[in-house]
Amino acid sequence: MFKIQTLNKIDPEGLKLFPLSNYEIASEIPNADAVILRSFKMHDMELPSSLKAIARAGAGVNNIPIEKCTEKGVVVFNTPGANANGVKELVIAGMLLASRDIVESVTWAKTLIGKGDEVPALIEQGKKNFAGQEIKGKTLAVIGLGAIGVLVANAASALRMNVVGYDPYMSVKHALKLSREVTWMEGVQPLLAQADYVTINIPLTPETKGYINKEKFRMMKDGVRILNFARGGLVDTESLREAIASGKVARYITDFPDEEMLKMDNVISIPHLGASTKESETNCAIMAVEQVQDFLENGNIKNS
Ligand code: MLT
Repeated sequence: MFKIQTLNKIDPEGLKLFPLSNYEIASEIPNADAVILRSFKMHDMELPSSLKAIARAGAGVNNIPIEKCTEKGVVVFNTPGANANGVKELVIAGMLLASRDIVESVTWAKTLIGKGDEVPALIEQGKKNFAGQEIKGKTLAVIGLGAIGVLVANAASALRMNVVGYDPYMSVKHALKLSREVTWMEGVQPLLAQADYVTINIPLTPETKGYINKEKFRMMKDGVRILNFARGGLVDTESLREAIASGKVARYITDFPDEEMLKMDNVISIPHLGASTKESETNCAIMAVEQVQDFLENGNIKNS
C-alpha cells in the first residue's frame, strides 16, 4: 500500500487515477511515500524518512526545498506545460487590462449606483477619463521561452502585435524551433529598448531573483506596461516603485501581489489565478499523479 499526502486541494480527476486497492490518500498521513501539492510552502516542513517523491501540480518548484530533497534522495516532479494555456489566457487578459483601464472604469461605474436616470449621461461624461490604447501594432517583449512564453508569443502575434523574444538560457537557434512568429534576440537590451509591453515568463531561482531591476528598467521605453505571471520575486520591488513614480512604467500587472503591491498606484493585482481554471487544475493533477504512480510502481522518472 502506497501512502500519498495531499498538501493542497488536488483535482479529483487526477486523484481518482490512483487505484484505491494500492493507494491511501489523505491530507494528513504518517509515513507518506509521496506528497502532491500546489502552492503549499514546504521549506519548514520535516520530510518523513519514508518520503520518496514530491509532485507539484504546477510548473514552478520554488515552494519545495530542492536541496534538502536532493540530499535525502527525494525525487521532485513538476507538470510543465499542463497549465500553460490557462496562464497564457490570463496574460493576454492582463495585457488588455493594462491597455483599456478596465479595472478602473468598472470600479468607477459602480459608484453610479443610486444615480437613477442620470446614469447614461454620467457615463457619457465619465468615459472620457478612460480612453485606452489598442495592442495591435504594439511591440510585446517575451522574456522566457518555456511552454507559457511560447504560447503567449503566438497568441500575441495572432492579435497582430510585433513579438520579440529572449530567453536567458536558450540560444536563438533553438528558440526558432519553438516559434516562428517571434523575432528572437540574443540579448535582453535590444528587446527591452523597443517594447511597449514586457511579459516575464522565467522561473524564480536564486539567479533570477530581482531579474527586472533598475538596470533593466533603464533599458525600457517610458510608459512601458509589464506583465508578471511567473513569480513576484522576479521583479525588484524598490526598482519597480521608482519606475512607476518616474512614469517609466505605466502599468504593472502581477499575479503575485504582496501588501506593498496592493498599495501601489498603477499596479493591477490579480490573486494568483493564472492556473486557476478547471482545465489547468485537471491537467496538472493528472500529470502529477501519473508521474508519482509511474515512479512508485515502476521506478520511472519523468519531469524531475
Ligand atoms: C505554476 O507554477 O504553474 C502555478 O503557480 C500553478 C498554480 O497556480 O498552482
